[in-house]
Amino acid sequence: MSTKYELKNLATSKATQMDAISGTIGPDVINIAALVKEQGVFTFDPGFMATASTESKITYIDGDAGVLLYRGYPVEQLAEKSSFLEVATLLITGSLPTKAQLDSFQHSITRHTMVNEQLLRFYQGFHHDAHPMAMVSAIVASMAAFYHDTTDIYDPRHREIFAHRIIAKLPTIAAAAYKHSLGQPSVYPRNDLRYCANLLNMMFSVPCEPYAIDPVAAEALDLLFILHADHEQNASTSTVRLAGSTGANPYAAISAGVSALWGPAHGGANEAVLDMLDSIGTVANIDKFLARVKDKNDSVRLMGFGHRVYKNFDPRAKIIRGMCYRVLEKLGKTDNPLFELSLRLEEIALKDDYFVSRKLYPNVDFYSGIIYSALGIPRSMFTVMFAIARTAGWVAHWQEMVSDPQMKIGRPRQLYTGPKRRDYLVIEKR
Ligand code: CMC
Repeated sequence: MSTKYELKNLATSKATQMDAISGTIGPDVINIAALVKEQGVFTFDPGFMATASTESKITYIDGDAGVLLYRGYPVEQLAEKSSFLEVATLLITGSLPTKAQLDSFQHSITRHTMVNEQLLRFYQGFHHDAHPMAMVSAIVASMAAFYHDTTDIYDPRHREIFAHRIIAKLPTIAAAAYKHSLGQPSVYPRNDLRYCANLLNMMFSVPCEPYAIDPVAAEALDLLFILHADHEQNASTSTVRLAGSTGANPYAAISAGVSALWGPAHGGANEAVLDMLDSIGTVANIDKFLARVKDKNDSVRLMGFGHRVYKNFDPRAKIIRGMCYRVLEKLGKTDNPLFELSLRLEEIALKDDYFVSRKLYPNVDFYSGIIYSALGIPRSMFTVMFAIARTAGWVAHWQEMVSDPQMKIGRPRQLYTGPKRRDYLVIEKR
């Protein structure tokens, strides 16, 4: 029998009973639907600090224990043994693919990498110094104008083609944004290359000379993509769900997710971390910087630290820190002052009562920028890299929501604190 909770209005003694619902793991949730009907009150939870917005079977996080599972599999095991495209199928379908299923998915992704030529012309309308995230969100939104055969959200085949198309084309769209910012011609995808090698080739090759793809870089990127592929109901995924819940076409929903990801409190943190490290400059300035972070009157934050859910080490941060050593060594870039600075910053912060008492630990973005930089990826493209990877998770969540016959439009309520009803005053009397 499920646990029952009761909410009682102490003035009237009217009580409402509510059932707890148990998931497979994690805390129970309380079904509060009866509250409005029986008591005429809403719950109030700005920032969704205590609200489960949906039921989901995709990703599980235990923030206190530092656990992250995709469809039940620990992210550490997937990082060690899997590939990004295998993780993408896992997230979308719910199970690890057989060899034949993975081959078929990879084949389909490879065959969908090109974008409509007219779409490529859109980039010409952007200023040369437009942020790539602005271009990517706009181009993704405009895909609905080109791929009409995938916008009937109630048709499972449409949904499947959309899923493959968006995962396949995001690297092409991202690389074209980068090339536009450089004033270089965009590079067509190559179907003989794997997902990340193809992305590197589209970003860094030029028509006038051969470009050798570094397998170390492609492998490192693949690993980073696995770690960024999903993170349950984070701000951008919730945005995709909310936009998608209206029945909007899936490209519009993913574009909304790209925009939400861009903020520095979310995916934009990886870019902000390197800006922060630059501004700190040297180890000698760390104390001065942390004094600003701790000053309530100063808006400076230690970027790449803290997380709404993790009150312990972010497991992804641990993996990426280990990866930094390996990747920098393999690339022959061990003398990396920014990595040295970030290690020292982490060490000092983790001994400081301000961070300890608030359970602020390094998150996924604290070290990811160091690797991206070492791979030659420019800072303005860091969040775009995150978006490419997170597209797998967005698609999985969108599919889960839309294929549920019980799907409801997401429509939160509010606590209204504006003026009460008042009558219009003609302008002469104001
Ligand atoms: N630097 C300094 N103080 C911080 C930080 C930080 N990075 N993060 C939280 N705090 C303090 C905050 O001031 C507050 O202190 P007090 O209780 O004295 O008012 C307390 O810790 C709780 O913070 P909060 O802002 O209420 O926590 P939140 O759950 O709303 O915010 C967060 C989570 C990720 C937005 C926040 O930790 C943050 O801004 N971190 C820096 C940005 C960052 O690295 N974001 C990437 C997140 S991981 C990747 C992703 O999800 O995209």
